[in-house]
Amino acid sequence: MFQVQIVFVTQSLICHLTVGGNMTAKKWVIGNWKLQGSLASNRGLIECIRARLPVLDERVGMAVSPVFPYLPQVADLIKGSGIDLGAQNLSEQVKGAYTGEVAGTMLKDVGVKFVIVGHSERRAYQGEDDELIARKVRSALDAGLVPVLCVGETRDEREAGETWAILLRQLNAVFDLIDSSKDDIVLAYEPRWAIGTGVSATPEMIADVHGFLRTYLVARHVEFGARTPILYGGSMNGANAATIAIIPDVDGGLIGSAALKADEFVSIYDALRAAA
Ligand code: PGA
Repeated sequence: MFQVQIVFVTQSLICHLTVGGNMTAKKWVIGNWKLQGSLASNRGLIECIRARLPVLDERVGMAVSPVFPYLPQVADLIKGSGIDLGAQNLSEQVKGAYTGEVAGTMLKDVGVKFVIVGHSERRAYQGEDDELIARKVRSALDAGLVPVLCVGETRDEREAGETWAILLRQLNAVFDLIDSSKDDIVLAYEPRWAIGTGVSATPEMIADVHGFLRTYLVARHVEFGARTPILYGGSMNGANAATIAIIPDVDGGLIGSAALKADEFVSIYDALRAAA
C-alpha cells in the first residue's frame, strides 16, 4: 500500500519538476530556547547574534523562541534585524476560562510568527497526544501563525522498526485538519533520542527520514510538498551543521542547546547559507 503511494508520489514530483516548477522550500534556522533565559541573558544573546550577523541572507531565515514572558522583550531586541520571533507553545483555545493558557491570537498580537507544536518534551511531560497537537496546529493557522510541527520516534520505536509507522501516525492526525492547498507550516524531524543528548542522527538516517517526509508532503499536495521547509532537530550544533545542511531535503534546523550560544547558532546559520 505504502509502496504504491511512494511510486505515485515520485511520479508527481518528477512531473512537477520537469514541467518547470522551481519552487524550493526556504531554509530556516529556528532556535528553541526552552525553559531558559532572563532579561539580561536574552539581551546579551541577541546582541551577540546581531553583532556576528548584521545582515541575514534572504534565502535563509532565522527565528528565536523564548518563553512567553520574554516575547515582547525579544520582539524589541530583534527589531530591524530580519530575525523572526517564535513561541514554544499555544493553547488550542481562542479565549475564555482556561487558566494559564495562551492563545495564538495573543502570540500574533505581540509579534510572533512561528509557534512550535508537538515538541517531544510536551508529548512526554505534558502528555500531549496527536489529536491535541492537531487541534493546536489548526489554532495556530487560524491565528495567522506558522506552526513548526515536530515529529519523531523514540529509540525503542526506531529499534523496533516502527519509525515509519510512528511518523505516519503523527502526520496523519495533523494533516486531516490542514488545507495543504493554502496553509503554511514548517515540519521538523526530531528523533527523540537525539534531543539534548549531544548525539545527532546519522546523515543516512536523516536523509532517509527527510526523503520520507518530503514524499508524504508531496503526496498531500505537490506545491505544498515542495514549499514546506523540513528542519532537522536533535543535537545539531556548529560542528555537525555543515554535514547536516547538505543532506537532501534538509531545509534547516530546529536548534535547542546550541541556540543559546551566539557563536554556535551563527555557525549553524552560516552552514545553511553555504548550502543554500
Ligand atoms: P537540542 O534540542 O538541539 O538541544 O538537541 C533540539 C530541540 O529540542 O528542538
